[in-house]
Amino acid sequence: MIYNKERVPIMVNIAVFASGRGSNLQSIIDNIKNGNLNANIGFVLSNNSKSGALKRAEADKIKAIHFSSVKYSDEDEFALEMLNLLKKYSIDIIALAGYMKLVPSLIIKHYSNRILNIHPSLLPKYGGKGMYGMNVHKAVISNNEKETGVTVHYVTEEYDKGPVILQEKVMVKTSDTPESLAERVLKVENQIYPKALSIVTENL
Ligand code: GRF
Repeated sequence: MIYNKERVPIMVNIAVFASGRGSNLQSIIDNIKNGNLNANIGFVLSNNSKSGALKRAEADKIKAIHFSSVKYSDEDEFALEMLNLLKKYSIDIIALAGYMKLVPSLIIKHYSNRILNIHPSLLPKYGGKGMYGMNVHKAVISNNEKETGVTVHYVTEEYDKGPVILQEKVMVKTSDTPESLAERVLKVENQIYPKALSIVTENL
């Protein structure tokens, strides 16, 4: 919970960064609406102008921002502009939900313990460079794992290595394909991301 100068609790303001279809964003939106998550989405940002995430934000009258580094010749300038945006909208927490770009280290420093990410495996297993999307599920199956899962963790400068907030297991069936496994894992992702955000926002 965060408080204003008069010690009155104020709603935590979340920015969601997403590059793709946006099912995790949708789940966050739905859980705010049904009262399970006491927060507000200040804006949704995507590097991909065609992302489902931006469309979902617009459908819910949430500020949708296409923000890409392509326009910036300089990385520092890009990072500063991102920071300005976060300040302008008074963002308390950033939720990465399938955001396929690196978050600039300026932002990670500024939002220490306030950036969350969701990953479709039981980290530290199947994390790190190249381990995203279907690559994760293919590797899990080809290694004959009996279980996999979902991790929500804080984002630090080290890829997929920040402290874990919440983890949930998903059993791997012998009949699973990477696609069928991805589908079951995604359902769990959609359930636990709002829960993890709720834990973090309640303890701010
Ligand atoms: C999820 O599998 C998430 O774990 C990964 O990217 C995917 C995003 O899915 N980081 P969606 O766009 O939220 O549907």
